[in-house]
Amino acid sequence: MTEDQDAPSPVVTYTADRLIELSERAESHLEKIRQLSFDPDHEKILRKFSKGEVCKMLNIARETLRRRIKEGIFPEGELNQAQNARHYDLGTLHQMMEIEGVRPSRGNSPRAARVAITNYKGGVGKTSITLNVAQYFGMLGYRVLIVDSDPQGSSTEYHGIIPDAELEISDTLAQFYVEGDPATLASAIRTTHWSGVDLLPANSALSHAEIRLYEQEDFGFFAHLDRGLAAVEDHYDIIFIDTPPSLGFLTANAVYASDGLVVPIPPEALDYASSVQYFATLGAMCNQFPKIVGRTKTFDFVRILCSRFRTNNNAHQFWLRRIRSSYSDITMEAVFKETRAVQIGGTQLQTIGEIPPSAPIDAGARRDAQQMLAQVGDEILRNIQQVWLRLEQGGGASAATAVASATAGVEE
Ligand SMILES: Nc1ncnc2c1ncn2[C@@H]1O[C@H](COP(=O)(O)OP(=O)(O)O)[C@@H](O)[C@H]1O
Ligand SMILES: [Mg+2]
Repeated sequence: MTEDQDAPSPVVTYTADRLIELSERAESHLEKIRQLSFDPDHEKILRKFSKGEVCKMLNIARETLRRRIKEGIFPEGELNQAQNARHYDLGTLHQMMEIEGVRPSRGNSPRAARVAITNYKGGVGKTSITLNVAQYFGMLGYRVLIVDSDPQGSSTEYHGIIPDAELEISDTLAQFYVEGDPATLASAIRTTHWSGVDLLPANSALSHAEIRLYEQEDFGFFAHLDRGLAAVEDHYDIIFIDTPPSLGFLTANAVYASDGLVVPIPPEALDYASSVQYFATLGAMCNQFPKIVGRTKTFDFVRILCSRFRTNNNAHQFWLRRIRSSYSDITMEAVFKETRAVQIGGTQLQTIGEIPPSAPIDAGARRDAQQMLAQVGDEILRNIQQVWLRLEQGGGASAATAVASATAGVEE
């Protein structure tokens, strides 16, 4: 043995600076991934749609499309030189839906339906589900707002934005929590590369906002987001809130502001066990609302979405059955399957709808992922339609108010 090998390894002390240095090193690796996935400016660009796809989405025959273009009712689309074919971007497609009178909307509901995707565990698929489902609705033509309420800013990052490096506090939801002025929430909303899908970004400033709010004397703090969203929800059909893996102040605000909850639970023993605690804690938290906020809170829907489900895994099938039998009435029919499309998207910061044709995934798997997303999206949409209907019948009150009056007499 050499002297070197014999020598004890130097003792490393993990100082705060060293932790920051680790973060900087990892950040530079992340930067390389971003360069591979996005444009040089990290800008994401959504692909264009062929005439065949346009016909399918407008539910019209090719001949009708040709005639509308000839009559100047529809635009001609952009010429793709390589394929010698005309394509349309999503924004133009939405305009064509409007002209054709087929763009879907919330109808006579006075405001958007609000849905929080929540579970206090990380890695269960909250962000993947939020983004994919939001974009699915955006593709259909609904006007959607994604509220990133997680200080980790994963939903924000997916949009080609580097949360801590590129965003000031005023560009995020945190500004509203600190200042309390709904105008600051409205001004932080930005459009995305998906026409019709807007984003209210997050970064780590949200953690600081959370700490500051805990220090406040005013205990009405659970109702902040409810009040903030009321200022912008006229512009949207659906608002999705992506939440952090905890049941702290940020999630409490998201839950209180929501008409419905989607709770992703992977079919694994520990995730199942944690769901039991989650519902107990969520219930206890909602029980605090009357005391703290002065209003009782109920939801139009609470749905468990079995997530990361591997179809031919026996243990997963067992736990899915378990989830269905214990949460029978609230478990969704559709499952968010573990698919290569979401997995690849996870490594390249892309969603199912964004994976480029060159990605190493065959056409069948891609189609399966799209079908799976459509099933999940359509089932959530049926729940959302119930919210719109209730709102239409109940007038323009905020969710919390409407729910409070509907449940008047419930113990406060
Ligand atoms: N259905 C799925 N198929 C494959 N990978 C998935 C699926 N759902 C989530 N993942 C991956 O698991 C990881 C955690 O998912 P994420 O949506 O970020 O969870 P959360 O927001 O609950 O922390 C990500 O890398 C994501 O790509
Ligand atoms: Mg997440």
